[in-house]
Amino acid sequence: LSHVASRSARGVSTERRQASITHQSRFRSRHENAGVLTMSGKSQNAALKKWVADWADILEPDDVYWCDGSEQEYNDLCEDLVLAGTFTKLNDAKRPNSYWAHSDPGDVARVEDRTFICSTNKVDAGPNNNWREPSEMRADMMALYKGAMRGRMMYVVPFSMGPLGSPIAHIGVQLTDSAYVAVNMRIMTRMGQGALDVLGNNQWVPCVHSVGAPLAPGQQDSAWPCNPDNKYIVHFPETREIWSFGSGYGGNALLGKKCFALRIASVMARDDGWLAEHMLILKLTNPQGEFKYIAAAFPSACGKTNLAMLVPTIAGWKAETIGDDICWMKYGPDGQLYAINPEAGFFGVAPFTSDETNINAMHTMTKNSIFTNTAITQDGDVWWEGMTKETPAGITDWKNNAWTSANEAPAAHPNARFTAPASQCPSIAPEWQDPKGVPISAILFGGRRRTTVPLVTQAFDWNHGVFLGSIMASETTAAAGGQVGKLRFDPMAMLPFCGYNMADYFKHWLQVGTKTEASKLPQIFFVNWFRRDEDGRFMWPGYGENSRVLKWVFERLNGTAQADKTAIGYLPSADSLDTNGMNINTADLQAITSVDVDGWREAVPQIRDHYAAFGDRLPNELATALDALESSLS
Ligand code: GTP
Ligand code: SPV
Ligand code: MN
Repeated sequence: LSHVASRSARGVSTERRQASITHQSRFRSRHENAGVLTMSGKSQNAALKKWVADWADILEPDDVYWCDGSEQEYNDLCEDLVLAGTFTKLNDAKRPNSYWAHSDPGDVARVEDRTFICSTNKVDAGPNNNWREPSEMRADMMALYKGAMRGRMMYVVPFSMGPLGSPIAHIGVQLTDSAYVAVNMRIMTRMGQGALDVLGNNQWVPCVHSVGAPLAPGQQDSAWPCNPDNKYIVHFPETREIWSFGSGYGGNALLGKKCFALRIASVMARDDGWLAEHMLILKLTNPQGEFKYIAAAFPSACGKTNLAMLVPTIAGWKAETIGDDICWMKYGPDGQLYAINPEAGFFGVAPFTSDETNINAMHTMTKNSIFTNTAITQDGDVWWEGMTKETPAGITDWKNNAWTSANEAPAAHPNARFTAPASQCPSIAPEWQDPKGVPISAILFGGRRRTTVPLVTQAFDWNHGVFLGSIMASETTAAAGGQVGKLRFDPMAMLPFCGYNMADYFKHWLQVGTKTEASKLPQIFFVNWFRRDEDGRFMWPGYGENSRVLKWVFERLNGTAQADKTAIGYLPSADSLDTNGMNINTADLQAITSVDVDGWREAVPQIRDHYAAFGDRLPNELATALDALESSLS
């Protein structure tokens, strides 16, 4: 039992122990009784053991359990979540080994206004982040953390971001009082004993998470414990620590994802000369069998998962998936940027995912998956808006209420998500776990823009591409709390995820471009699938048809597609974009493949305001590029 630090041995009152008959303690006793404890996680790392013990003293959980990542452990945790009412097991005949969860209505998405970067100096967090002085934040949060896990189990969740042992991967350990988080982490990361073994006696990225809902003796737990009015998603970039409190949902709670793989990793990347980006990675093969790897940064709920898994509509072209959300890129010995997907699963937007829009995602989640805030059908399967043409009868909505299509509110929350293993994706590329990564030939930046931004533009060069990334704007989505559909600048799709001053991040991008020969750098493109006409109709059909844009990108890389030089970059020449057999009218096509000079002129003062927030930390190269854009528009 050495690896289970029993709280009772540390003096938690027997009264409380007896009173807290929670699913967590059922879990522990079952594992003891079944002798499974001998299988759970073991580490010889003294510093890690001390860190866990110190936090247990603060958080005061009933018990501490080290996750080994085994299938048995996963199944037991899921069973406990069913007993606790958090999970409903789906119909095994329809969706084997899968579960449905619905969250507290106050805990449905990332909370950007409760997310903090606590660097010593405010200027290092930049205008792009909420900042608090680190020692003040630590004091405030310690008060919240004191006793926060009473009545609960504390799970120790070791994980690797990236293939186990890859030179590009990094290890974290998350403490959490949520079994829901532990099982999601097992899908999303390489979680358990393997990560502990790779860690050995080295330093990990410490991640502390509590749902912030301690249980008094005898208190009945809720199905989705959280602290909706008191959330903190906190990062200490200088010490590379993550402290999260109050939320059990998505990027707030699965700390390997946005908190580690983007906010903390962006700081590591700045310091060590690499890039940690909010990008999908795909492999595109032409009819001759030649292939290239493309990364693309789009803001949350703006099409990364869909593009990563797209089925080309053009004959002979093939797309395969490496990753759908996060990309870590480091220079290889040949001077090219190599990318890995640090994740092992997809935490994808469910609504409007269907056999028509993303059949690869549909196949990925046919088994061994977790569905959060989708609707559930009478026969125990999941459903969401856009999944099927016909709405099945007898739906229960994400709030667990009976629902019919007469309801005004959707049955699935707009940010409902599936958690599914990447290995189950039919389009996954065979090399998706290659520890050395894949060489990136092109980087796409794109937002959700109903006006102004054309379908595709190629940057003049690396620095101009960094400029285009830095002026990216997009309409906000349900992936984060707050207003939906509001246009905001979201440079490189990293506004909510850059762990330091964005002006320094731009400078870092410019510097990365000086580290190799220009011919070895990825070419940068700007895309927009979301142009609309006056009636709000999408002018570009998107989804699989985006393969036509990918083909143009591929052919630009090979120097075979024609382009016209414009004020904003290279645009496809007439007929260079393959629209064969496509259903689009000439006027729409013309509108989305030309420069909207008036729209861009109107944008210039807004870009100036956006840049002004960075003061004199803004790199000169970008200010100069904006001046050049303005003068070429006049
Ligand atoms: P996160 O997981 O939040 O980072 O989102 P994401 O960038 O992976 O977005 P995702 O691919 O899940 O798409 C989000 C929404 O945009 C879904 O409702 C999609 O159906 C929709 N969408 C994706 N691609 C397209 C497209 O090409 N055209 C249109 N019109 N909608 C799209
Ligand atoms: C995003 O919002 O970009 C996501 C979902 O990928 S979450 O994991 O909640 O951050
Ligand atoms: Mn994302």
